[in-house]
Amino acid sequence: MLKISFSTQFNPEFTLPLQSNFLKVMATIVFQFEDKNIASKTYSITNGESVLDIAMEEDIGLHHNCGGVCGCSTCHIYVVDGMDHFQEISDREEDFIDRAINPKINSRLACQCLLKSDTDVIVMVPDQTALNGH
Ligand code: FES
Repeated sequence: MLKISFSTQFNPEFTLPLQSNFLKVMATIVFQFEDKNIASKTYSITNGESVLDIAMEEDIGLHHNCGGVCGCSTCHIYVVDGMDHFQEISDREEDFIDRAINPKINSRLACQCLLKSDTDVIVMVPDQTALNGH
């Protein structure tokens, strides 16, 4: 008679084949909108992803005319909370922010705003009305 037994002891040699994304830590990103008719939306964001990545995945109406290569200012956003958790601003990004509509001290370009930690962040999408048709 064949006998099968299972051990309940932990085997330290046993490893699971993990997908590369499995260990990436997720944080939360809240999109607020200058347009008061649009309710805030909350999504997951992973270390290394940009605010524009999430905006595009989730169909947030955020313009990105140059395709996310820091060549325009249409993806302009305000960072409400978590500025230190995004990749540092470059001189080129600063130049394009200066050309954005109503830039503020917490302005960033969403395509250049890559999360560099696992901390939750809040951003505000400026009113996109002035960009429609551009
Ligand atoms: S999409 Fe053009 S600068 Fe971000």
